[in-house]
Amino acid sequence: MSRGESPDGGASPRGTLRDFVAAAEQLQVDGLALIKGASSANSLDEVRTTLVGRKQGRLTDLMKGLPALPPEERRDAGAALNRVKTALEEALDAQAAVVASSARADGPRVDLSMPSRMQYTGAKHPVTLVIEEIVEIFRMLGFTVAAGPEAETDWYNFTALNFPPNHPAMDAHDTIYLADDVVLRTHTSPVQIRTLQEYKPPVRVVIPGNVYRLDPFDASHAPMFAQIEGLSVDEGVSFVDLKATLSHFANEFFGATKTRFRPSYFPFTEPSAEMDVECRLCKGAGCAACKGTGWMEILGAGMVHPNVLTASGVDSERYTGWAFGMGPARIALQRYGIPDIRLLYDSDVRFLEQLAR
Ligand code: PHE
Repeated sequence: MSRGESPDGGASPRGTLRDFVAAAEQLQVDGLALIKGASSANSLDEVRTTLVGRKQGRLTDLMKGLPALPPEERRDAGAALNRVKTALEEALDAQAAVVASSARADGPRVDLSMPSRMQYTGAKHPVTLVIEEIVEIFRMLGFTVAAGPEAETDWYNFTALNFPPNHPAMDAHDTIYLADDVVLRTHTSPVQIRTLQEYKPPVRVVIPGNVYRLDPFDASHAPMFAQIEGLSVDEGVSFVDLKATLSHFANEFFGATKTRFRPSYFPFTEPSAEMDVECRLCKGAGCAACKGTGWMEILGAGMVHPNVLTASGVDSERYTGWAFGMGPARIALQRYGIPDIRLLYDSDVRFLEQLAR
């Protein structure tokens, strides 16, 4: 049957069953096209009213034609109408879902099914790891941990440590003055004094902390760096204790390794020494990191000067002691084979995560 026989798409009151079914099928074809074309919730609502609206929808119009059919044909006509109605309603619901999801895509984009962002848990800095390891070795030997202020008075940083006024040893300790007699401490040694003022011997402490110097920022220097101080004061303490303890430390930390002590000078120790370990990078052959010597200096040490004990209120006739100061950043270079100390201060995650534990 062609469209021409049912020009208005509706049923004439006096139509036949064939006309009626044809009109219903035409409504389905037109309706599905209209539904597909509705791209917003509003236009889809209009289409819904036009097609299946109770009062004047086209389906309702068709239904009004039913009574005009002969009674024996009404059943089939009604069934045809129902099929069309079901098809249209299903298409309307399906399109409603399509329209709703594309409306959401235009709105705020929240996708609850998206995997959450990767969590960065963070890790300890290589220098922190080295400090913890060093502290742990000394803890096993009966040392406890002490701390002191980074802004320090001139007296604690220099005078009590037996620096004579204007002594050339202070050249290496140029720093920032916060006030006339307050400096950013140049070493952790002032905490030796603070500890001895507070605790009676026997005293065995390690003191990790940051220090500040007017040093150039180059491959082996930084203007701010960490130190670990060590102090042991008791009756009858001698240089043997110093050497034995520091050699034990080097063995524990670096594994069986060669060490050597060289005479040195610090105003607050007498005698004074520097301890070297065989360069881990070249195994003693000589490389850029050890400046061709095959040795890496890791600490300064010595017997605590009697003037330092006296300045701290300790009886220097009765007690003796030894002390050391080392730089964990330099030790980290050795431990991890890092060629430039500045890498430790760059905060470059690509570098740090290689050493993260
Ligand atoms: N305080 C010294 C420095 O910073 C190191 C040191 C500490 C030397 C203790 C001897 C004893 O260079």
